[in-house]
Amino acid sequence: MAKAAIMGYGTVGSGVYDILKMNAKKIEAAAGEQIELKYILDIREFDDHPEKHLFTKDVNDIINDTEVSVVAEVMGGLHPAYEFTKELLSAGKSVVTSNKELVATYGSELLKIAEENNVNYMFEASVGGGIPIIRPLNRCLAANNIVRIAGILNGTTNYILYQMITNDKSFDEALKDAQANGYAERNPAADIEGHDACRKIAILSSLAWGKEVDYTNIGTEGIVNITLEDVRYAAAAGAVIKLIGYAEQLEDGRVYAHVAPMLIKNDCLLSDIDDVYNGIMVTGDMVGDVMFYGAGAGKLPTASAVTADMIDSVIHSERRSLISWEKTDENVSAGPDDKKFRYFMRTTDTAENVSKVFGDFEQIKSLVEGETAFVTGELTASEAEKKASELSETITSIRIFK
Ligand code: HSE
Repeated sequence: MAKAAIMGYGTVGSGVYDILKMNAKKIEAAAGEQIELKYILDIREFDDHPEKHLFTKDVNDIINDTEVSVVAEVMGGLHPAYEFTKELLSAGKSVVTSNKELVATYGSELLKIAEENNVNYMFEASVGGGIPIIRPLNRCLAANNIVRIAGILNGTTNYILYQMITNDKSFDEALKDAQANGYAERNPAADIEGHDACRKIAILSSLAWGKEVDYTNIGTEGIVNITLEDVRYAAAAGAVIKLIGYAEQLEDGRVYAHVAPMLIKNDCLLSDIDDVYNGIMVTGDMVGDVMFYGAGAGKLPTASAVTADMIDSVIHSERRSLISWEKTDENVSAGPDDKKFRYFMRTTDTAENVSKVFGDFEQIKSLVEGETAFVTGELTASEAEKKASELSETITSIRIFK
């Protein structure tokens, strides 16, 4: 029998508890032995909990208990999750997590500590909630050179955009709904400003190309400036606006990545990822496009991925499961001007001036009196910004996905 602990009894932690109880038989069959929960770490009181004897406020109870072999870290945030994880791995326990902030920031170091101690550090739930993506990217697509990853990686922002598109809801109303449903981060700025998606695309990029892609090098824009007019323009053009985590390996080996709202044509599979769902399109040089789709946030979907990692850790307790990347001094990240996109723009300036500034451009039917809407040719981020600044006023500038 394997003994386990959960650190953090919030949305995901209580979901892991529920799954361990509800699916105990299935989990035992998959792991090859029973997984018994011995501790739940949380600083709050849970006096009404049916198993209140499991709760502890002292992480040392878990660290010093030689019976515990696997710990689910679902507390979120960097500290003290980082310190606790280091100590647990060093004490010879496998740690599984949904904590994308921790994996993106300290993943290289924690993976190394896990390797040195012959235990596992697993993070399937850190990207895409319940969607299997880490293991498929690492194992099932291992025969491919990964060309590109483009994903809707944040459920909260997708939910907000979807509510704006389909129900004409205001941004604030939709955000409140997402928070009430337990999708949003404690600080919703992490969702709506794109930081959550940034951590996730950094993790996928590091895994896909084997070297740590530092998330601080990824240009990140959120959806805070997207308006109902933008959404309506997109609809008129047969497209939708989605917050996309984008990463591509350039010919010189460096990784170009960004998080930004992008215009997605309706014939692209990513345009159909609605509501709180996530969708990740991975392009391999042999397999072509592969799409991963499912619940990207929420209690049980995320907990299902955490629990699967607990099972995998038990299965691989003798032999480590090799999901890793290396941290190098090389310049892994390309800059924002290393990749060109076409842009959808709106301006209060005239079509004549747009033509003077942009030369080649495609005008589209204006939906708001007094403005010109158009699509540019291929531009770097700096070129787009510079040209936009030469117009009297640019209301919107959104990259187009192809
Ligand atoms: N706040 C995150 C989201 C939770 O909305 O996607 C899952 O990582």
